[in-house]
Amino acid sequence: MKMARALLVALLLVSCFVALGLSGRADAAAERKTVGVYELNKGDFSIKVTNWGATLMSVILLDSRGNFGDVILGYDTVAEYMNGTAYFGGLIGRVANRIANARFTLDGKTYRLVPNDGNNTLHGGHRGFDKVVWTVKEHVAGGSSPFITLYYHSFDGEQGFPGDVDVHVTYQLSSPHVLSVRMNATARGKATPVNLAHHAYWNLGGDGSGNVLGEEVRLFASRYTPVDASLIPTGRMASVAGTPYDFRTPAAVGSRIGGLLSRGVNGYDINYVVDGRGLRPVAVVRDGASGRAMELWADQPGVQFYTANGLSGVRGKGGKVYGHYGALCLETQGFPDAVNRPSFPSQIVRPGKVYKHDMVFKFSF
Ligand SMILES: *[C@@H]1O[C@H](CO)[C@@H](O)[C@H](O)[C@H]1NC(C)=O
Ligand SMILES: *[C@@H]1O[C@H](CO)[C@@H](O)[C@H](O)[C@H]1NC(C)=O
Ligand SMILES: *[C@@H]1O[C@H](CO)[C@@H](O)[C@H](O)[C@H]1NC(C)=O
Repeated sequence: MKMARALLVALLLVSCFVALGLSGRADAAAERKTVGVYELNKGDFSIKVTNWGATLMSVILLDSRGNFGDVILGYDTVAEYMNGTAYFGGLIGRVANRIANARFTLDGKTYRLVPNDGNNTLHGGHRGFDKVVWTVKEHVAGGSSPFITLYYHSFDGEQGFPGDVDVHVTYQLSSPHVLSVRMNATARGKATPVNLAHHAYWNLGGDGSGNVLGEEVRLFASRYTPVDASLIPTGRMASVAGTPYDFRTPAAVGSRIGGLLSRGVNGYDINYVVDGRGLRPVAVVRDGASGRAMELWADQPGVQFYTANGLSGVRGKGGKVYGHYGALCLETQGFPDAVNRPSFPSQIVRPGKVYKHDMVFKFSF
């Protein structure tokens, strides 16, 4: 197993070098399946994406003093993403978040998944969409709205899920400093749950600049879904009022964390029920030191707010070491374990039907 993995990494590394540096419009005949790194540049705003896991590798932005910084955690090389376990910048699927006891029943048939988080399935299983090679469909590196579209065909039975699924994700930069992530997935042949999520680890002060407990966050969510000890929702939707989960008015990330620690919870890792419907504000994050701010809009029922509680001594970009609370994640998505919770919004996509998920990040500095 180890040998096979080492060989795979070596092979992909070779193809990585081959693909590096190539950019421009990929025509249909030359769709690229070798692993590469693709840049989108719009003046003082740029990102890097790799088709390994449709992963966002960097988001480069100015700060209020005119210095550039990378506001997401990650690695310098694709090989490190292949080996990594933190889901840095990855596109998570087929079903993001947890599925209790690694199984569900759909249309009378029980499906067994891969348990990779105690008894539960997390983020699609042992080898989710963040650990596969995507095809680059189109890449426009510059101009007024640079973009890249990636495609993945998930096969019937992959990680235990039923039916083929065609998945697309498009990363695009637009004015003035807007990054959009647009996802869709079409079920082919069988009904299946689909719940995609984007797993960037944000630190508006710059990756490796320390913890985010001093960054200010606002969440447009009046309720959350309480969980049991293995982070599976109890099925309730509880008000955030009077709890450490209340970020309806802007507050420092660390300002209420003591209330979690005293309950034996080591940080935020919880799904919020986002107020309203459609494409609407989900969160605003501000970092006083750099003057950077980020507004997130999305069209999903929930957002998992995670404060990188599990990070510890991870060596990332430029040798920087990422620790506990070194970033925050705002993973818009459906609710955890929805496939086993009839009271939660359904994630089932019937054959021929399309799942859609749009995220819009608006930056200022
Ligand atoms: C792979 O990950 C392990 C465990 O995190 C780490 O010790 C090792 O150095 C990593 N190897 C590479 C090539 O990044
Ligand atoms: C997994 O399930 C078994 C059987 O129900 C239980 O005994 C065990 O404690 C569970 N493990 C975890 C990590 O929850
Ligand atoms: C999914 O997204 C891709 C890329 O933007 C697009 O070409 C395709 O038409 C979309 N599929 C559906 C069914 O909307």
